[in-house]
Amino acid sequence: MTILVTGGAGFIGSNFVLDWLAQSDETVVNLDALTYAGNLRNLESLAGDARHVFVHGDITDRALVDRLLAAHRPRAVVHFAAESHVDRSILGPGAFIRTNVEGTFTLLEAARAHWGALDGDAKAGFRFLHVSTDEVYGSLAPDAPAFTETHAYEPNSPYSASKAASDHLVRAWHHTYGLPVLTTNCSNNYGPYHFPEKLIPLMIVNALAGKPLPVYGDGLQIRDWLYVGDHCSAIRTVLAKGRVGETYNVGGWNEKPNIEIVHTICALLDEMRPDPAGPYARLITHVKDRPGHDRRYAIDARKIERELGWRPAETFETGIRRTVRWVLDHEVWVREVQSGAYRDWVAANYAAQGRA
Ligand code: NAD
Ligand code: TYD
Repeated sequence: MTILVTGGAGFIGSNFVLDWLAQSDETVVNLDALTYAGNLRNLESLAGDARHVFVHGDITDRALVDRLLAAHRPRAVVHFAAESHVDRSILGPGAFIRTNVEGTFTLLEAARAHWGALDGDAKAGFRFLHVSTDEVYGSLAPDAPAFTETHAYEPNSPYSASKAASDHLVRAWHHTYGLPVLTTNCSNNYGPYHFPEKLIPLMIVNALAGKPLPVYGDGLQIRDWLYVGDHCSAIRTVLAKGRVGETYNVGGWNEKPNIEIVHTICALLDEMRPDPAGPYARLITHVKDRPGHDRRYAIDARKIERELGWRPAETFETGIRRTVRWVLDHEVWVREVQSGAYRDWVAANYAAQGRA
């Protein structure tokens, strides 16, 4: 048996591939374009492992996707590939429309043709699992209940709008064509292999380098954090047991304001790698806010627990400690991802948007 994973060299996708092959002998065909966010270093422990077939290519390439489906006959497609960073979507939304919308459309069409030609158990068992985000639901008022699966879609950034569009395509391909889809909408992830443009890894690597810790606006925006290994286990659970056509919200019941996250990271670093120059919190710098910045996300994860029995294994306290430890233990990985292209991006985001 085989599954086709898209975006399996990125942050969550590579954690998923590593976790999958640690628990199963089922081959993973991993289609990834290796954008700035894709990193084969994440998968180097799989070198020589015949269960991992890496394919360097783009999900908008229909002929390539058709060839992969015909050659490997996967029983499922698990679709992670996306442009995923809100700040990048503000500076350049085009790539988000191309990959997140056109790419998902291409995969759906290819999967539909492949599935349509199957029969018997292969047809009945086929699944297209679309990995999405809580950001499609927009921003919550401070006292509003957490997002359930029936919350209205109110995306506010080019990123979340492109993910919302992809979710709608997935839904429509089920209702119109019967394609057996599943969708997960997850809250903010953190953990190993997280690219240091996102809040948590950026704060860790900046602190270690003695650089300012740029907190957007007042830092009281709330995100609901989930350790990446828990997201991966949720996806495996939905793939195995999810009801076709359903969406499942995935979250860790860990709502925290950004400023609290940054202080927690500083305190852990003070403990694990004390800086002779003084506490890391001295580096916290409030900078210009992100345009259209959503104030609060919170996931109601009761459906996936009630129907499928999934719960996160990590608390925020255990997960963030593991994450800081991981960065300290992987200095070479961090140095390598902070390439020239990464430095150009930091200059664009923090200077061109008036945050420097
Ligand atoms: P990421 O940016 O770290 O990785 C994306 C991967 O997709 C990279 O390996 C990249 O090379 C690949 N990719 C990009 N464009 C491609 C294309 N056109 N063809 C093939 N591959 C392409 O993203 P991530 O944080 O790992 O997120 C993975 C998925 O999970 C995304 O769909 C994202 O929307 C969703 N998600 C992320 C979070 C989070 O907190 N990071 C939370 C909920 C949902
Ligand atoms: P991010 O990791 O970009 O995820 P998302 O915007 O998809 O939730 O950001 C998480 C939160 O941290 C978000 O409220 C923006 C904020 N943030 C900062 O305050 N400073 C930063 O340098 C970054 C990258 C994010």
